[in-house]
Amino acid sequence: MTRNTLTLNTGAHMPLVGFGTYQVTDPAECERAVLTALQAGYRLIDTAQNYGTEAPVGKAVRESGVPRGELSITSKVWFRNHKAGECCASVLRSLERMGLDHLDLMLIHWPFGDVYAAWRDLEALYREGVVRAIGVSNFGPDRLIDLINFNTVTPAVNQIETHLYCQQQAARPWLQKYGVAQQAYAPLGQNRIGEMFALPAVTAAAAAHGKTPAQVALRFLVQQGIAVIPKSTHPDRIRENIDIFDFSLTEAEMAALRALDTAKPMIGTADQPARVESSKNWTSKEL
Ligand SMILES: NC(=O)c1ccc[n+]([C@@H]2O[C@H](COP(=O)([O-])OP(=O)(O)OC[C@H]3O[C@@H](n4cnc5c(N)ncnc54)[C@H](OP(=O)(O)O)[C@@H]3O)[C@@H](O)[C@H]2O)c1
Repeated sequence: MTRNTLTLNTGAHMPLVGFGTYQVTDPAECERAVLTALQAGYRLIDTAQNYGTEAPVGKAVRESGVPRGELSITSKVWFRNHKAGECCASVLRSLERMGLDHLDLMLIHWPFGDVYAAWRDLEALYREGVVRAIGVSNFGPDRLIDLINFNTVTPAVNQIETHLYCQQQAARPWLQKYGVAQQAYAPLGQNRIGEMFALPAVTAAAAAHGKTPAQVALRFLVQQGIAVIPKSTHPDRIRENIDIFDFSLTEAEMAALRALDTAKPMIGTADQPARVESSKNWTSKEL
């Protein structure tokens, strides 16, 4: 880990702070936000077939003037594409929508359907260099280890819900054991920001360092080697969320923040039967 990147099991360096694009439904707004993020110094942008933001992300990347080699662009395969050959074809469609010739990281978005067929397609694209790293998202340690046991390429990343209330302390040792980087989604707590940012442990640390609650919440994860991908469409917040490398939380502050963990996901996990059942009806903006 350098000051602001971590090293993946592929040897590539991945920025510890990236930019999320979930729920940025207006393409023009998405393009503007990504351009602002790139100008503010973000070098990792996160999109997904499901978000409908691949096209505006690609457009902003192409128009930004930032050399492609400096960027780490992530997308995710939706589970309706988890069929042999279909997964591969869908990644090529993602690239076409983005106007790019490769992705730096392609993830399996949810462990539903024929995950193993999809993974073997991703392994082939990885060997061809069309995707420079492959990984998963929303995988519990059990699913992750089984995927590793029965395939060739170990995922570079597991992108999972991680924030003050859901710190993934039980999953972390497993990710470390298998050399899989943890990337936190909803690192600010998505819909529960107001409540989280008023907690005394958060406001006290923010006041002590002259930082905002958002910066404390993100710094808390990054200081543990967990990558984060906060989303915002406000330029001031976009800049604020990456400005977290000029301070360190003390051990006492880290302990107080660690104590906020409820170990309960807010968004949900793939081992919840009702969630798996409902996934039959989930739709995707793109396939
Ligand atoms: N793999 C998965 O299944 C999965 C699931 C969820 C998310 N993700 C990825 O992770 C990214 C981040 O997660 P998320 O978007 O769900 O949640 P998040 O980043 O934790 O929170 C986003 C919310 O925080 C607000 N916000 C951002 N910066 C702020 C600041 N400095 N101060 C106050 N409020 C602030 C945003 O509002 P404004 O926009 O109005 O500023 C937005 O309402 C997503 O965009 C997506 O790329 C992946």
